[in-house]
Amino acid sequence: MSHFKPILIQLCAVAGLLGTLTLTSTAVEAASLQKLFSEVEGAEYVGSDMCVACHEDQEREFKLSTHSRISFADDSGEPQGCEMCHGPGSVHVEEGGGKDNIFNPRRNPELCFSCHLDKQAEFRLPFRHPVMEGKMACADCHNSHGTDAQPWTSTSLDGVNGKCFQCHKEQRGPFVFEHEAVGEGCTTCHKVHGSIHDKMLKVRDNNLCLRCHTQMNFPSIGDSNHSGRLTRGTCFSGGCHTAIHGSNFDDHLRY
Ligand code: HEC
Ligand code: HEC
Ligand code: HEC
Ligand code: HEC
Ligand code: HEC
Ligand code: HEC
Ligand code: HEC
Repeated sequence: MSHFKPILIQLCAVAGLLGTLTLTSTAVEAASLQKLFSEVEGAEYVGSDMCVACHEDQEREFKLSTHSRISFADDSGEPQGCEMCHGPGSVHVEEGGGKDNIFNPRRNPELCFSCHLDKQAEFRLPFRHPVMEGKMACADCHNSHGTDAQPWTSTSLDGVNGKCFQCHKEQRGPFVFEHEAVGEGCTTCHKVHGSIHDKMLKVRDNNLCLRCHTQMNFPSIGDSNHSGRLTRGTCFSGGCHTAIHGSNFDDHLRY
C-alpha cells in the first residue's frame, strides 16, 4: 500500500484531529475490519468465484474497476475480491442469498474508511455531506463496482454535475444567464466531502471568486470598478451576485 496517498496533514490539523496522524498510511486494520464483519457469525471467506453464479452483473462491472486491481489477503493468504468489502460470504452462499447474512457497505462507511482514512477526517469537518449522520452513503456518489469509482464518467456538464443534480435540482438550470464556472464542475467551488467553510466552499469569501476574476486592471472586474464594493461583504451576499449558479433575470448574476 506504499503508493497510497498520505493523510492530508493540513486538513487533519485544521479539524483538530492530530491524534489520527500517528497512522501515517492507510494500512487496513485487520482488527477493526473483523469487528465490522463479525455481524455475520461464523462466516468464512469463500472467494469471488462463489459470487458470480448469482451476481453476474456486479462481477462483470467489478472486473474493470479500480478496486479490483487491489486485493488484500484473507486469513489463509488468498486475495479477497468481493469479500474485501462484503466480508466473509460462506453463510450468505449456503443460505442461497439474503440480506442479513452479508455486509453491505451502504449501511456503514467504516469499511471505506479502513482504507481511505483521510476521507474520515474530511467527513468530520464542520460543513459536510451527512454521511457520518447516516443520512447518506458513499454509494450515493460513488459506484464501488463501476469502471470508474468517481461520480462521473464524461466531461459534459451533465456528466460532471449529474450526480449532484439528482439531489440538488435548483442548481441545474438551464438558466438564461449561465455562470461559466459551473460548467467546469461543482467541485470547482465546493469540497463535497467536507470543508471548514460554510456551504462546503473550497475557499473563503471573495477569495473564492477572485481566483478567476482578477483582471489586469483590478480592482476593476468586468467593466466596473469594485474597489469600494469588495469591502462590503462577499461577492455573493445580498445586493451583489446572489444568483451564483445562474440567473434567469440578470446577466451579472445579481438575482
Ligand atoms: C470496494 C468495495 C466493494 C467491492 C470490492 C465489491 N462491492 Fe458490492 N457493494 C459495495 C457497495 C458500497 C454496495 C452498496 C451499493 C449501493 O447501495 O448503491 C455494494 C452492493 C452490492 C450488492 C447489492 C446490490 C447492488 O448492486 O447494490 C451486491 C449483490 C454486491 N455488492 C455484490 C458484489 C460482488 C459480487 C462483488 C465482487 C465481484 C462486489 N460486490 C465487490 C462495495 C463493494
Ligand atoms: C445462491 C445465490 C447467491 C450467491 C452464491 C451469492 N449471493 Fe449475494 N445475494 C443473493 C440474493 C438472492 C440476494 C438478494 C437478497 C434480497 O434482496 O433479499 C443477494 C444479496 C446480496 C447483497 C446485498 C445485501 C443487502 O444488504 O441488500 C450482497 C452485498 C451480496 N449478495 C454479496 C454477495 C457476495 C459477496 C457473494 C459471494 C461471496 C454472494 N453474494 C453470493 C444470492 C446469492
Ligand atoms: C481494502 C482497501 C479499500 C477499501 C475497503 C475501499 N477502497 Fe477505495 N480505493 C482503494 C485503493 C488502494 C484505491 C486506489 C487509490 C489510488 O489510486 O489513489 C481506491 C480508489 C478509490 C476511489 C478513486 C477511484 C478511481 O477510479 O480513481 C474512490 C472514489 C474510492 N476508492 C471509494 C471507495 C468507497 C466509497 C469505498 C467503500 C465502499 C472504498 N473505496 C473502499 C482501497 C480501498
Ligand atoms: C456528495 C457526493 C459524495 C459523497 C457522499 C462521497 N464522495 Fe467521494 N468524491 C466525490 C467527488 C465529487 C469526488 C471528486 C473530488 C474532486 O474532484 O474534487 C470524490 C473523490 C473521492 C475519492 C478519490 C479522490 C480523492 O480525494 O482521493 C475517494 C477515495 C473518495 N471520494 C472516497 C469517498 C468515501 C470513502 C466516501 C464516504 C465516506 C465518499 N467519498 C463520499 C463525491 C462524493
Ligand atoms: C443523494 C443526495 C445528494 C447528492 C448526490 C449530493 N448531495 Fe449535496 N447535499 C445533500 C444533503 C442531504 C445535504 C445536506 C442538506 C442539509 O443539511 O440541509 C447536502 C448539502 C450540500 C451543500 C451545502 C448546502 C447548504 O445549504 O449548506 C452543498 C454545497 C452540496 N450539497 C453540494 C453538492 C455537490 C456539489 C454534489 C455533487 C458532487 C452533491 N451535493 C451531491 C444531498 C446530496
Ligand atoms: C463559482 C463557484 C460555484 C460553483 C461552480 C458552484 N457553486 Fe454552489 N455555491 C457557491 C457559493 C458561493 C454558494 C454560497 C451562496 C451563499 O452563501 O449565498 C453556493 C451554495 C450552494 C448550495 C447551497 C444552497 C444555495 O444555493 O445557497 C448548494 C446546494 C450548491 N451550492 C450546489 C452546487 C452544485 C450542485 C453545483 C454544480 C452544479 C455548484 N453548487 C457549483 C459557489 C459555487
Ligand atoms: C473557475 C473560475 C471561476 C470562478 C471560481 C468564479 N467565476 Fe465567475 N465567471 C467565470 C467565467 C469564465 C465567466 C464568464 C466570462 C466573464 O464574464 O468573465 C464568469 C462570469 C461571471 C459573472 C457574469 C459576468 C458579468 O459581466 O457580470 C459574474 C457576476 C461572476 N462570474 C461572479 C462570480 C462570483 C461572485 C464568483 C465567486 C462566488 C465567481 N464568479 C467565481 C469564471 C469563474
